[in-house]
Amino acid sequence: MEALALNPLYEKVITDLMEQQYSIIENFFIADEVLALRESLLAKYDEDCFKKSAIGNMANEIVIEAIRGDFIYWLDEQDCNAAEQAFFTKITDFKDYLNRTCFMGIADQEFHYAVYPPGTFYKRHLDSFQNDNRRKISVVCYLNHEDWQPEFGGELTIYKTVDGREEELNIYPVQGRMVVFESQLLEHEVKPVKQERLSITGWLKSRPEVLF
Ligand code: OGA
Ligand code: MN
Repeated sequence: MEALALNPLYEKVITDLMEQQYSIIENFFIADEVLALRESLLAKYDEDCFKKSAIGNMANEIVIEAIRGDFIYWLDEQDCNAAEQAFFTKITDFKDYLNRTCFMGIADQEFHYAVYPPGTFYKRHLDSFQNDNRRKISVVCYLNHEDWQPEFGGELTIYKTVDGREEELNIYPVQGRMVVFESQLLEHEVKPVKQERLSITGWLKSRPEVLF
């Protein structure tokens, strides 16, 4: 059998996930890939392709602005441009690596662009649904302009219990930064933004459970 080469970047993400349930990576995508994704997000937003985000999954979704105010565009892996294809190629490579080295059983993936207009936020939540727990790993990559400032707000706050005490981790959405975390374990929120905040966000999902 052919020996499998270790990928140091993926290994770092896996170690982080095992040790702290999240990982922050600055160079998962190269600068040109991030800029190309940013351009294609902005083009679709200009063309009015985005819709108001909702809570819940497709079967029972409702729009509640008091919980979540972003606009999203679901990507179709079968019908996407070169930047999005490059994105999915890397994500798929990472997913295959997880399955090969950690037996994660990731069968599926879903991603959307998100735009948070000024004044919007996403209250504290967990990414898995009550009627569907297939989301295993959450992935967010920020597509903001290159000089994102702390005073623009929009931190991703991750809540983590360490030794019985809750800790808050604030992560600024700087261009190209990627955050990966355990969808079923970590509650998190997006703090109110003062400047338009852009990202590509999605989930690595397991196969549906079959109940007998
Ligand atoms: C989400 C989410 C975090 C972020 O879309 O479920 O929590 O930083 N996004 O955009
Ligand atoms: Mn979330």
